[in-house]
Amino acid sequence: MKITPVLLAAGLGTRMKSNTPKILHPVCGQPMLAYALTAARSASTEKPVVVIGHGAGAVRDYLGDAARCVLQDPQLGTGHAVLQAESLLRGVSDLVLVTYADMPLLRPETLTRLVETQQQNPGPATILTVIAPDPRGFGRVVRGADGKVQAIVEEAAAAPEQLSIYELNVGAYCFQSDWLWDALHRIPVSKKGEYYLTDTVELAVRAGLPVQAIVTGDQAEIIGINTRIHLAEAEAAMRQRINAAHMLAGVTFIDPAATYVQAGVTIGRDTVIWPGTYLEGNTTIGEGCQIGPETVVRDSGIGNNCKVFKSVVEEAWVEEDVDMGPYAHLRKGARLCSGVHMGNFGEVKDSTLGPGTKMGHFSYIGNATIGREVNIGAGTITCNYDGVRKNPTEIGDGTFIGSDTMLVAPLKIGKRAQTGAGAVVTKDVPDDTLVVGVPARPIKKTSKE
Ligand code: UD1
Ligand code: CA
Repeated sequence: MKITPVLLAAGLGTRMKSNTPKILHPVCGQPMLAYALTAARSASTEKPVVVIGHGAGAVRDYLGDAARCVLQDPQLGTGHAVLQAESLLRGVSDLVLVTYADMPLLRPETLTRLVETQQQNPGPATILTVIAPDPRGFGRVVRGADGKVQAIVEEAAAAPEQLSIYELNVGAYCFQSDWLWDALHRIPVSKKGEYYLTDTVELAVRAGLPVQAIVTGDQAEIIGINTRIHLAEAEAAMRQRINAAHMLAGVTFIDPAATYVQAGVTIGRDTVIWPGTYLEGNTTIGEGCQIGPETVVRDSGIGNNCKVFKSVVEEAWVEEDVDMGPYAHLRKGARLCSGVHMGNFGEVKDSTLGPGTKMGHFSYIGNATIGREVNIGAGTITCNYDGVRKNPTEIGDGTFIGSDTMLVAPLKIGKRAQTGAGAVVTKDVPDDTLVVGVPARPIKKTSKE
């Protein structure tokens, strides 16, 4: 059976007061449209159709070939929006799953249940409803004395006794495809000049065809976004959901309300996340780590048993048993091998620190390859930029870089070498050699172990 999702995303989103189309605003790091797509896809069998209008170019660019787009112009309501998919789907799809792209908290499981209910329904439609104390301007679900759904009445058109109905139309529907297209051509125009998708319900009931409803018990699911206040509500609800999933999978959060983990981040068990921590983008954290407080990890991998304390890690790779911070900064292309210790006020960019290397205080390491068990003294700087290009520095295993050494790249320092405090090293240093001074010169061989 072919089940095709249709996502409505043509509306302007005026109340966001934004230059960005509403559905591209991020919630926990991903555009709200991404969640709607994922949920719809998981409950269906065919590539989604997205109805676009305002900001069509940007939305199309974002979607790429994740969906087929149809343009709705002008925008004459949700019924008219769905009708734009008719030429693609009539006679092709068996069921059509319609959702709104501005409801990122709608769960895949709920949509699956909606589809499954419609598969059992001899009638043409199943809708998703919620019982909520605050009607939020939603359409009201009118049921007959027999409890069967009779209609959805929009708030603006509702009679006073209908306004006091607390069963609301969430905005997710599963239709028999063949029936839907004919029904959409028959819905009347509203007082506002729009064609309401919700009017299809009454059309079915009048024709004696049963409309089913399933009720969600999760109030967070129905958060739709019209303003930036709703956006913050959705962010908080999504954060709660993401953090709860990690906690159930064995991660400790000291204060989940103050811990910001974006969708898609993975965290190993027995890791502890302290407050004020942001785990963002394509990030993986291993098992048994201590992360935070006040730490940012973005697009990075951190191995098992690491401690990252009050630090910033961006596009970097950290192996196991690394301990860093406070105030360490890893930038793009930094790699800390296992057992590295990186203390306060260090910055590493486009560089590798080999296993067991220590960099305790106030250093900048850029475009460098540093071997194992190297000691990088306080205040060491790779002078990697000559004003035109970035130059590489290489440091061999077991070398000892004295405090406040300037390493003027391009530069190679051998194994087990040493630099004296304050040395400005402008020439390559052979293995087992001590250099001192400005500019640094060799004075003796270092002792071999
Ligand atoms: C709609 C429902 C209402 C439901 C509520 C839940 C209708 C008529 N009403 O009302 O019963 O309780 O959602 O949030 O459907 N859109 C288009 N083209 C259009 C108009 C809208 O693509 O011409 C898209 C919007 O971008 C949006 C979605 O459809 O993603 C819903 O439209 P909106 O105007 O927000 O409908 P509501 O008035 O909220
Ligand atoms: Ca809405």
